[in-house]
Amino acid sequence: MADENAVEFIDSIPDGEGARRATELFAKTYGYQPAGVWDAPGRVNLIGEHTDYNAGLCLPIALPHRTFIALAPRQDAQARVVSSINPGSVATAELEGLEAGGVKGWAAYPVGVAWAMRQAELPVQGFDAAFVSCVPLGSGLSSSAAMTCSTALALDDVYSLGYGSSDEGRVTLISMAIASENDMAGASTGGLDQNASMRCQAGKALLLDCKPGLTPLENVSQQDFDLAARGLELLVVDTCAPHQLNDGQYAARRATCEQAAAKLGVENLRQVADTIAASAGDDPSARRQGLQEALDRLPDPVEVKRVRHVVTEIWRVTDFVRAFAAGDMAESGRLFNASHDSLRDDYQVTVPELDLAVDTAREEGAYGARMTGGGFGGSIIALVDAGRSREIAQKIADRFARKGFNQPRALAAVAAKPAERVA
Ligand code: GLA
Repeated sequence: MADENAVEFIDSIPDGEGARRATELFAKTYGYQPAGVWDAPGRVNLIGEHTDYNAGLCLPIALPHRTFIALAPRQDAQARVVSSINPGSVATAELEGLEAGGVKGWAAYPVGVAWAMRQAELPVQGFDAAFVSCVPLGSGLSSSAAMTCSTALALDDVYSLGYGSSDEGRVTLISMAIASENDMAGASTGGLDQNASMRCQAGKALLLDCKPGLTPLENVSQQDFDLAARGLELLVVDTCAPHQLNDGQYAARRATCEQAAAKLGVENLRQVADTIAASAGDDPSARRQGLQEALDRLPDPVEVKRVRHVVTEIWRVTDFVRAFAAGDMAESGRLFNASHDSLRDDYQVTVPELDLAVDTAREEGAYGARMTGGGFGGSIIALVDAGRSREIAQKIADRFARKGFNQPRALAAVAAKPAERVA
C-alpha cells in the first residue's frame, strides 16, 4: 500500500528544542541543572571516500541533524552518561586508572573523550552528561563523531581548556575525539567525520586535506556550497540495510592500502596520486596511463583495485570542487556517479541496498548519486533539482519494498554549522 510505504523524512531538532530536551533529561536523571548544553552535527561526505586514511582529500558538509549534550563537571573522576534512547539506564565509569578499551557499549564514546584528554595531561575531571540526538544511528552519517565532538567541546568549555574557540584549537579536540573512537570504542576512523563535525561552516563544504604535517590553516579550505542558489537539493537516503561485518572490512581496506603503498615505495597513496598528477597535468589519458604504470607494479589484483579507487577518488575531489564552482552540474553529477561506481567495483564497499538506491535516483533524474561514508550499509546522497527529493526518495522506498529490503528513510541535507554551545 502506498501509504504504509510512505517514506519518512527525519527532521532535525532546532537548537532551542534540543537544549531544552537535553537539559530536561539531565535534570531528571541527576537531580540538578547542567552547566550548559553543546551540540555537534552529523555529516555527509560529498566526495572523497576512503581517502582520509590514505592522506587524501575529502569534501564533507555538516548536517542540520545534531547531537545535543547537557553536561556538568564533577569534583571527582567519575563519568556518568545517559541518552534519550534509553533514559532509564545510566552508564558509569571511573576515569582514574581507566585503560584503553576499558568501557564497553555506547558510553565508550563520550567517556573515551575525557580519558583521551587525561592521557594528554589536560586538567579534566569527571562529568555527568545527558544526550539527545536526531542524527540517525548506524546510518553512515557520523552519529559517533557527533557524540565524541559534542563531548569534547563541552569538556573543553567546562574545564576551561580554551581549544574550542579557534579552528586551530578544535584540531586538538578532534584528536581527542578520534582517540576515543579508535582506542576506547575500538572503532577505526580516519578523521573525516570529526573534522566535519568540528570545522564545517554553514553554506560551505569543507575541502579537507589529510596529508600529514599540514597546519590547521593549510589543511582546510571552505568551499561555497549553496544548493538553493543553484535550484538544487541534496537528498540523503538511509538504506537501513542490516549491519554487515564492517569493522573488519574497514580495517582490511586500510591494511591493503598500506601494503600497496609500501610495495610502491611511497608513504601513502596520496603520493601516487600527486606524482602522476604532477607529470600528467589535467590530461585524463595521461593520468590513466600514469596510473596504469603504477598499477602494473602491483602483483595482487585486489591491491590493484583498491589503489585504483583511492587514486582516482582523490582526483575526483579536486575535479568536483572545480566543476561545482563553475556551475557545471552535469559534470558534478558524473563525478558523484564515478565515485560510487569505483566504490562498488574497485573498493567493494557497497551492498545491494546502496546500489539499488543509487541506480533508482539516477533513473529518476538525479544529476548524480553515490554512497556516502564507510559503506557496507548506510546512506546514499543524490544531487537533484529543488523540490524533487520526496518523490525520488519514495521511488527508492517503493523499489526497496518490492525487493523485500528494509524500509529506507530520508532527510534533506543543507550545509549546516559546526559544533557549538547552544545553552
Ligand atoms: C568512515 C570513517 C571515515 C572515513 C569514511 C570513508 O566514515 O570514520 O574516517 O574513512 O568511513 O570515507
